[in-house]
Amino acid sequence: MQQHYRPTYHFMPERNWMNDPNGTIFYEGHYHLFYQYNPYGDQWGTIHWGHARSADLVHWEHLPIALYPSNELGEVHCFSGCAVYDGAEPRIFYTSIGDGERNAATGAEQWTATSADGLLTWTKHPDNPVLTSDLHGGLDIREWRDPFVWRQGQEWLMVTGGAYEGKGCVTIYKSADLLRWTFLNFLHIDPEVALCECPLVYRQDDRYALIYSPGGIVKYLTGTMSADYRLVPDAQGIVDHAGWDGYYAPNLLIDDRNRCILFGWMPDAARGEFQDAAGWSGVQALPREMAITASGKLAMRPVPELRELRGRHSGQDELVREGGQRIAGAQSKAVELIAEFDLAGAAAPFGIGVLRSEDGREQTRIVVDPAAGGITIDRSESSLSPLPHKTPIAGGFEAENGRLKLHIFVDRTTVEVFANETACLSARVYPMLEQDAGVSLFGEAGRGALIGFDSWELNGVQ
Ligand code: FRU
Repeated sequence: MQQHYRPTYHFMPERNWMNDPNGTIFYEGHYHLFYQYNPYGDQWGTIHWGHARSADLVHWEHLPIALYPSNELGEVHCFSGCAVYDGAEPRIFYTSIGDGERNAATGAEQWTATSADGLLTWTKHPDNPVLTSDLHGGLDIREWRDPFVWRQGQEWLMVTGGAYEGKGCVTIYKSADLLRWTFLNFLHIDPEVALCECPLVYRQDDRYALIYSPGGIVKYLTGTMSADYRLVPDAQGIVDHAGWDGYYAPNLLIDDRNRCILFGWMPDAARGEFQDAAGWSGVQALPREMAITASGKLAMRPVPELRELRGRHSGQDELVREGGQRIAGAQSKAVELIAEFDLAGAAAPFGIGVLRSEDGREQTRIVVDPAAGGITIDRSESSLSPLPHKTPIAGGFEAENGRLKLHIFVDRTTVEVFANETACLSARVYPMLEQDAGVSLFGEAGRGALIGFDSWELNGVQ
């Protein structure tokens, strides 16, 4: 029952609970992915860092657990963090949780560890904690966690997440040696959220993107940094419209080709009671290439390496009319679709149905509303079971020269939609159908608006 929910080409541990990607880094020819991991069960708890690596971002090799809570030092969890390489030794920073008081000002510390064996095992530094809340000079920062470090000139900078006076904030620090840190300032990031988790900074020339996870939909600010290290945002946006139901707590790395690659956690929160007895929970989203555009938006697209998964192709010519819709040749629960639409002639909503049972009673619809510039993953018919959450995932897209290109990846229980590379929507869905599923185009997509269509059945790697 549960096995047909297990994605086939997304990264996930062989068993047990996984949440945030951590310490993502390109090191000596490999992409390394660490992740929040509970080795004792399929629910959140006793958080370690799991570890995997890949040469191509598609095939992943499971490696032994990289980081254990040091019970003898009173450490209970190793929360999220980052990895950096200063040319001498690889280093991670993470939040050490020592007691049940993680919400208090004193409940968390930032620790560091180094590796002398190619990132496999880690030695915690004797001077830990390297940052304590005393640094904040009386500012009562709560839920202080998730350090992210980057190099800037001769200095290292760090951001951490937290809450100040009940509102999400990001704190900034600097260091010359990665061990002694100075607190610089903090930014009340989003007046609408009580907490900010997993902040990330990506610098592209003199532009900065600050990505943060506010207990729901992952957002970003872009802007500049002042001489006194204040982030000065001038644009904002949404990294992915899914939130808890599909995409959360991303992490990033810069690879040897200077690409910024974003990883993110696809929670199984939407699975409801299906999660019990599965023995696993949590999937890593497909790696995305990310860049800051001239207008300050983040552009994202799936890494081109994923083309390696492509199996049987079928194109626009193979679409078969059936009533008011057209059925694509792809017959699988693991598919990639690229569909391009001319919005000029399109007035009424149209879209694509994936994970579609033969009788059409079960399907997940990706619905485009051309008049409103809206796009939705409609999960109301995704599963004939009443158990999973069925709320829609909704966002907006920007047309490009009057066109919309949808790039869609489906993997049994995951749906990831890239709309003109500037809007991303992810979702988890739990169809009952155990056999292969179909793809349909409905509304205007089944008629005039469609100007390009390709689909591939994708091969699994697990
Ligand atoms: C985000 C998060 C982080 C924390 C980790 C704990 O999903 O809550 O803020 O470090 O998960 O597992």
